[in-house]
Amino acid sequence: MEKEILRKELKVSAIENGTVIDHIPSGSVFQVIKILDLAGYENQLLLATNLDSRKMGKKGIIKVSNKFFKSHEINKIALVAPSATLILIKNYEVIEKKKVEVPNIAENIVKCFNPNCITNSEEISTRFTVIDKKELKLKCHYCEKITAGENVSFR
Ligand code: CTP
Ligand code: ZN
Repeated sequence: MEKEILRKELKVSAIENGTVIDHIPSGSVFQVIKILDLAGYENQLLLATNLDSRKMGKKGIIKVSNKFFKSHEINKIALVAPSATLILIKNYEVIEKKKVEVPNIAENIVKCFNPNCITNSEEISTRFTVIDKKELKLKCHYCEKITAGENVSFR
């Protein structure tokens, strides 16, 4: 039993201080890295995809040492990883667990599905008001069209 636990823990080692982003859909791990701008992160960054999860089948996890995100930064990931759990670690101890929340505004994460929208022809950030958080309905700040459901794709 103890050996079993040890093996599981060794898949991604524990961190001393920082944020664990757990229960990420496996296919979204690299999008989360991009949204949080972690590709050039200069502290320890651990990540895994396709881990077995009882809740999700397969899951991804990202561990960001020495980083505690502001809620407006971290909530951006809810658009690609609504199932994500945030775990704050201090001195190897779990001090807080919380869920991500879909933000009111989505800035430069989603593409506008309207091919004529200016954001698809010029190098500008997209910006949407989230008008339905459950079904993810997004109203474009530029063309006012609604991108929703299967039309949602990420930049
Ligand atoms: N964790 C970590 N470093 C620590 C403590 C915990 O990276 N010093 C990670 C664990 O690997 C786990 C997550 O934080 O992915 C939550 O830790 P814990 O609550 O101890 O694990 P579980 O009980 O398995 O959590 P859950 O059932 O919610 O997945
Ligand atoms: Zn638009």
